[in-house]
Amino acid sequence: MGSLVLDYTHAMSDVVGPRHGITPAELDALGADSKAALAAVQARRTKDLRWLDLPYQSAVHEQVLDFAARSAGRFENVVVCGIGGSALGTIALQQALNSPYHNLGARGSLPRLFVLDNIDPDLIGEFLDQFDPSTCLFNVISKSGTTAETTAQFLIFQRALVERLGREQHVEHLCITTDESKGVMREIVRREGYESFIVPEGVGGRFSVLCPVGLVPLALAGLDIKGVLKGAADMDERCRTEDFRANPAQVYAALQWLMQAKKHKPMSVTFSYSQRLALLADWYAQLLAESIGKRTNRRGADVFAGPTPIRALGVTDQHSQMQLYTEGPQDKWFTLLSVDKSDHVVPIPAAYADLEAVSYLGHRSLNELFAAERDGARVALTAAQRPSVTVHFPKVDPHAVGQYLQLMEIAVALCGEHYDVDAFDQPGVEAGKLAAYALMGRAGFEARKAQIESSAPRSSCTV
Ligand code: PA5
Repeated sequence: MGSLVLDYTHAMSDVVGPRHGITPAELDALGADSKAALAAVQARRTKDLRWLDLPYQSAVHEQVLDFAARSAGRFENVVVCGIGGSALGTIALQQALNSPYHNLGARGSLPRLFVLDNIDPDLIGEFLDQFDPSTCLFNVISKSGTTAETTAQFLIFQRALVERLGREQHVEHLCITTDESKGVMREIVRREGYESFIVPEGVGGRFSVLCPVGLVPLALAGLDIKGVLKGAADMDERCRTEDFRANPAQVYAALQWLMQAKKHKPMSVTFSYSQRLALLADWYAQLLAESIGKRTNRRGADVFAGPTPIRALGVTDQHSQMQLYTEGPQDKWFTLLSVDKSDHVVPIPAAYADLEAVSYLGHRSLNELFAAERDGARVALTAAQRPSVTVHFPKVDPHAVGQYLQLMEIAVALCGEHYDVDAFDQPGVEAGKLAAYALMGRAGFEARKAQIESSAPRSSCTV
């Protein structure tokens, strides 16, 4: 089991120049603030930041594994109904740790895993057309237990199950993950007797992948959740050190803040040179955006803070975004995700010896070509004075992915200290939820509905 390595050589001024790169003095000057940030975050570990301790909740882990064992072989499909932090971690880990063809090919007794993190009628309607609900276990996940999208999905699939299986039998096909006491989903669990799991206090949606929110569907799909949790615990230990340069979360958070505050780079690109890690960039995008994107600082003054996360996939986006990244505005910094050892080695056959533009590939491997493209991209970014760091994964396995999750969660918490914003609330998300309640005619939101409808002058062109 290897450790993740954060290489920030190519973010430094001696490599990309002092205008765009961080000088050692700038980084070291943040040492005292970083130490204070670390102390502030760690002091809340047993209070309101309980997500830090999720890798150590062995009783919960056993409860999840017991449920997965009891469910084994009973369902062809596990279907997550949830959105945002209740879905993105599972989507990312399914992509990282399962075969890309898991839902298509031979799976033994393991179920397919679908995460329906949208309510587009064509997504849900097509699912109902394609799948017999009696072959499915629906895991409805909502921390608040009030999110309209998830509640609507629950109602639709519950009705489909009852129609297919009857009132009594349908209960076996639903499992709810929600707050221990708050929210209407908990009340529904009480009434219906569904299997349920708890989203603990002090665990916000985007920090919840290592609690039953992510663990239940991943365990049901047969993935190694203990390996993920071990990786997270190992990273958690690494990120406790006050030795600034030895603490990858401190360094990453400091770089993120310096890149925006001192080098005027509001865009943070996660560039995954791994198809399997690609959706970790989506998970991180939510973590960074919702945590740091805030109108006010912690004293209530308007600051309109926050980096804009961008997701890119190598090599695919070399043929799409790279032109912008190397020659466009100097407003981005890059985090490359790189894998040292792939599970597969794919040789490239030799042919057309007389055609040099083809023959140079022969007797090499896709692994060599992929690595050359990744390193070539970093060389091109560096030559164009675009700062980057590389997170090296020894391989894509549960332990490495668990390390990444815990690293980024701690780094973003530390960013909250540097940016002086509350990294754990999401008033902008709540505002959208409340507006949707009003527009759906929910009782108690009449005044808001009238206000929205009266303040919406329309401009449009007919084409
Ligand atoms: O991170 C968050 O808090 C949000 O993205 C939530 O996860 C999302 O809005 C869904 O909320 P809930 O789990 O309460 O249904």
